[in-house]
Amino acid sequence: FNLLPSKRPPVWEGLPFIGGLLKFTGGPWKLLENGYAKFGECFTVPVAHRRVTFLIGPEVSPHFFKAGDDEMSQSEVYDFNIPTFGRGVVFDVEQKVRTEQFRMFTEALTKNRLKSYVPHFNKEAEEYFAKWGETGVVDFKDEFSKLITLTAARTLLGREVREQLFDEVADLLHGLDEGMVPLSVFFPYAPIPVHFKRDRCRKDLAAIFAKIIRARRESGRREEDVLQQFIDARYQNVNGGRALTEEEITGLLIAVLFAGQHTSSITTSWTGIFMAANKEHYNKAAEEQQDIIRKFGNELSFETLSEMEVLHRNITEALRMHPPLLLVMRYAKKPFSVTTSTGKSYVIPKGDVVAASPNFSHMLPQCFNNPKAYDPDRFAPPREEQNKPYAFIGFGAGRHACIGQNFAYLQIKSIWSVLLRNFEFELLDPVPEADYESMVIGPKPCRVRYTRRKL
Ligand code: HEM
Repeated sequence: FNLLPSKRPPVWEGLPFIGGLLKFTGGPWKLLENGYAKFGECFTVPVAHRRVTFLIGPEVSPHFFKAGDDEMSQSEVYDFNIPTFGRGVVFDVEQKVRTEQFRMFTEALTKNRLKSYVPHFNKEAEEYFAKWGETGVVDFKDEFSKLITLTAARTLLGREVREQLFDEVADLLHGLDEGMVPLSVFFPYAPIPVHFKRDRCRKDLAAIFAKIIRARRESGRREEDVLQQFIDARYQNVNGGRALTEEEITGLLIAVLFAGQHTSSITTSWTGIFMAANKEHYNKAAEEQQDIIRKFGNELSFETLSEMEVLHRNITEALRMHPPLLLVMRYAKKPFSVTTSTGKSYVIPKGDVVAASPNFSHMLPQCFNNPKAYDPDRFAPPREEQNKPYAFIGFGAGRHACIGQNFAYLQIKSIWSVLLRNFEFELLDPVPEADYESMVIGPKPCRVRYTRRKL
């Protein structure tokens, strides 16, 4: 590689930042919008002691998503999660151990495993909405956050937590969550009260899980949940082929929960907000439910949920409009080059933090026709706009694409099937803006009136 400075991406000097990377004046969206207008698909922003190079759009994205971890590494940019996930897992271990732990995630979410989780998704959703009245006003984000915590407790953390320890564990997880603030990205060990609380909660969670795991191992009792998959898992080519320790299992459960919980509840919320605001799409999805009931009966299963194409497209479109992860990041361990759509070539040097933005990329008119419009049919044949490589990156892409994507679709479809079959919705506020103040980006508050359908 010729690393002449002239071949490096343009640098946007002198930007005022407050605190960490995620707090620029004017907000992250403005930064991307202005940077893209000024410099195009590839530009560098110096932030504190680091250089962050943004890659925007499919032309400059393939290396970012495809390259191996020896070139585009995750641990240097995501290691702020270590105090939350814990020692010995994910970003606190060498690459070959992490690869095996990700294999364990994948094996806990195979088709057969997912089939066994579906009845739990349904049961939780049905019980939750049975408690709603004939009519009422709710905020989807609050409701789905509670419901998905219950479902995650049952399917990921296990029966013991869901049935006996739910309130205690939910409080501890909340403490972990509160300990992840924008400052934590750069200074995960800063001596601030929310970090102290995070560390106490992490310790208490480890004690609770150690007890549960020991009890299952000693009694030989097995359950259908991700916890059981981790208890049964063994390393293959590292760590002498041993089983996971109690501490590692706790760390992996927390990591899966952090990856899947807010992302799923936020996507469930936007799906509802957009369907409620676009009645024709709500009605089409409700009709699809009636077709499914006519064909297969009332029971929701892996197979019937997989048949729901209209609902699937609504979820995908909600995720396109508002992906909950603003930035996905890597650390360049080796220099690499990109060529933009206008034929400019740049060399990104070793040591740069490199970032792609699902939010911003999804709004590019060269990727999605009329991108600001809510239009789930863009994903139906013959348009199938999602098929352009690296255009739709709501679940990431390539080497580190989301492992929980199918789990997420099934869970969200189960929730919306119950709702579409039983309720009508009316937005009492305009479609809300996204709240860029939080770490995982969801809708600002929005009141929705539900009315139970008359049978
Ligand atoms: C990775 C989004 C649900 C587990 C990712 C990535 C994205 C993403 C964008 C790529 C991150 C990167 O490239 O750095 C989402 C969204 C979800 C969702 C929008 C819900 C709508 C879930 C669920 C689980 C999960 C439910 C687990 C049950 C994971 C894991 C990874 C991941 C383990 C890491 C994969 C790797 O680095 O190789 N997710 N996710 N996600 N997701 Fe999801």
